[in-house]
Amino acid sequence: MSGSFKVKPAARVSGQKQDVWTIVNEAAAASPKQPIVNMGQGFFGYNPPKFILDAAKEALDRVDCNQYSPTKGRPRLKKAIADAYSPFWGRKINPDTEVTITTGANEGMLSAFMAFIEPGDEVIIFEPFFDQYISNIEMPGGKIVYVPMHPPATGATKTSSAADWTIDFDELERAITPKTKMIVLNTPHNPVGKVFSKDELQKIGDLCVKNNIIILSDEVYDRLFYVPFTRISTLSPEIEQLTITVGSAGKNFYATGWRVGWLMGPEHLIKYVSAAHTRICYSSVSPLQEACAVGFEKAEAEGFWDDAIRDMKGKMDRFNEVWDELGLPYSEPEGGYFVLVNMNKVQLPEDYPFPPHVASRPRDFKLSWFLIQEVGVAAIPPTEFYTDENAHMAEDYLRFAVCKEDSILEEAKNRLRGLKKYMK
Ligand SMILES: Cc1ncc(COP(=O)(O)O)c(C=O)c1O
Repeated sequence: MSGSFKVKPAARVSGQKQDVWTIVNEAAAASPKQPIVNMGQGFFGYNPPKFILDAAKEALDRVDCNQYSPTKGRPRLKKAIADAYSPFWGRKINPDTEVTITTGANEGMLSAFMAFIEPGDEVIIFEPFFDQYISNIEMPGGKIVYVPMHPPATGATKTSSAADWTIDFDELERAITPKTKMIVLNTPHNPVGKVFSKDELQKIGDLCVKNNIIILSDEVYDRLFYVPFTRISTLSPEIEQLTITVGSAGKNFYATGWRVGWLMGPEHLIKYVSAAHTRICYSSVSPLQEACAVGFEKAEAEGFWDDAIRDMKGKMDRFNEVWDELGLPYSEPEGGYFVLVNMNKVQLPEDYPFPPHVASRPRDFKLSWFLIQEVGVAAIPPTEFYTDENAHMAEDYLRFAVCKEDSILEEAKNRLRGLKKYMK
């Protein structure tokens, strides 16, 4: 059909290059080392806890749970979220005006950009960024202004905290123009694993108050922190007035396929986000909203939040032992389930036959390809989360997701020991 098919696609979808997920997943499928250990994409290798799965099964038997939910979300879920988060805010969050349910955090963020961005408005994001931000900002015609997080100077030789990836606040201030409408923040951070300190958040918040910039705070990993975690919205009433906080039940409850997320914030922001969400997908999946409501109602009493931190931190620490053994430095995560490992010491054979779409990309794409082919472990090249200009900052790193079964992590470690023979 292609030759005679003359309908022209819109630029917002036609120009997109092959993304990193396609490259890595296709390479993994074609690797001689089958089955591959896939530590690339951040989906869980295990199920949500039983009390949440049971709630989903029960919801499917209820007539009202199989029909449209209100566009802003099911009242039970909004209330459960407001109740769960009110203690962090130190006041009662209004479930009817300050919470809106979305189809995953991703659609929630698209709704936020659709609600506030006019063509030509500028949105500041930090590099490395979660890749979906880009097209979500570009859809309504937003212009992205990038500010890099700087890796630790000793990243190639020494393991250090993910806190050592830093923002240059002068650089941030210089990026602000009269057209800056929003800034996107992500803490705990994917892929760096940094949890922004209170002091850093205060500086960002102060700049936004001074310049009247909306803060979209992507806190989808908010239940996985290994150092004290601050929510920017709670720093001052002035900052709160400008902040939309993003959450994901997919991340919270190990159910990324359920596509349940939410946005919280002051009524004057949330009402427009809800309006955009209504236009994009009308309402979100009913039975799974109900199950997430039960999740929030019961999580504390079930000890689930504490278990989630303990389990993930355990996986992280056990997996990272292999880097200590190999002498490969990494950024020790302060939150989330990703670890960035510096592979500067891994020597890629000069004549290695990389396919052209890998050979033309920065060194981390080659490292990723090489690991898939020779070691049988898939990881993500983080320069995908940078502009070309700043990609050099991360070209020695690979991102591993540890939200996998323990047996898979052990198998990954066994295979990764095979890297020894390629190290300087
Ligand atoms: C930083 C960040 N934000 C948002 C999302 C999307 O969350 P959801 O699956 O709820 O759309 C992800 C998923 O990987 C993420 O890493």
